[in-house]
Amino acid sequence: MAKPVLQVRNLYKHFGGLVAVDQVSMEVYPGEVVGLLGDNGAGKSTLIKLISGVHRPDGGQVIFDQREVTLASPLEARKLGIETIYQDLALCENLDASANIFLGREPLRRHLGLFKELDSAYMLRESHKILEQLDIQIPDLRRPIRQLSGGQRQAVSIARAVYWNARLMIMDEPTAALGVPEQLKVLQLIRTLREQGVPVIVISHNLQDVFATADRIVVMRRGKKVGERAIAETNNNEIVGLMVGSDVQL
Ligand SMILES: Nc1ncnc2c1ncn2[C@@H]1O[C@H](COP(=O)(O)OP(=O)(O)O)[C@@H](O)[C@H]1O
Ligand SMILES: [Mg+2]
Repeated sequence: MAKPVLQVRNLYKHFGGLVAVDQVSMEVYPGEVVGLLGDNGAGKSTLIKLISGVHRPDGGQVIFDQREVTLASPLEARKLGIETIYQDLALCENLDASANIFLGREPLRRHLGLFKELDSAYMLRESHKILEQLDIQIPDLRRPIRQLSGGQRQAVSIARAVYWNARLMIMDEPTAALGVPEQLKVLQLIRTLREQGVPVIVISHNLQDVFATADRIVVMRRGKKVGERAIAETNNNEIVGLMVGSDVQL
């Protein structure tokens, strides 16, 4: 059996007296899509922020490629190949799609043999290539990201991850703000990532989306992991039951 790309062990994070992530352990294997589910406030976003270097854990370990890592910043996580699309999308609104794909990793070329300047032509060519490869249509690559639709922005984030050979893709509610056709496109891109061997952790409110894309589901409630199921071995009712807990009668 392949070794996990990511393991977290007993991760723990509190904000003052509130325990947001309570001793959570989980693994992610190459090429699998893991759905992370739970009610509002369950700790899903905080958990992924511990894995992507936004928050430092107060306890527990993050093991990436069999090595324990300390992720001091999102940039450090990205250097390891952990790409994250946050609920509040982290693209630069005023830059265009190709600049966003190369954000923080811009190629430079010599100008007049002296000065180094941004090689925008190269960035545009490469961006065209990767977007085409993923069958993503962006009408004008020079338009600022803020003028693109929600789905196109998601697509640009995914293109960036694929271009830079992400080892793990994390998506927090990627389809929440999208229309139906765009949701389908994002789900299709998640499958493309999986086919390319890139594992994905996807947080979603939409159980249907999760059942359509995930191989495995991890359920959180009040900071704790309360269940883990292979898609083939569970159903909507069981998952909703885990999300809301046995104290609630449906
Ligand atoms: N930066 C923060 N400061 C204080 N409390 C936070 C912070 N981020 C999240 N929380 C709290 O931690 C709990 C888990 O939040 P979150 O991880 O966003 O849940 P989810 O993504 O599952 O809805 C919530 O009670 C939330 O209010
Ligand atoms: Mg959240």
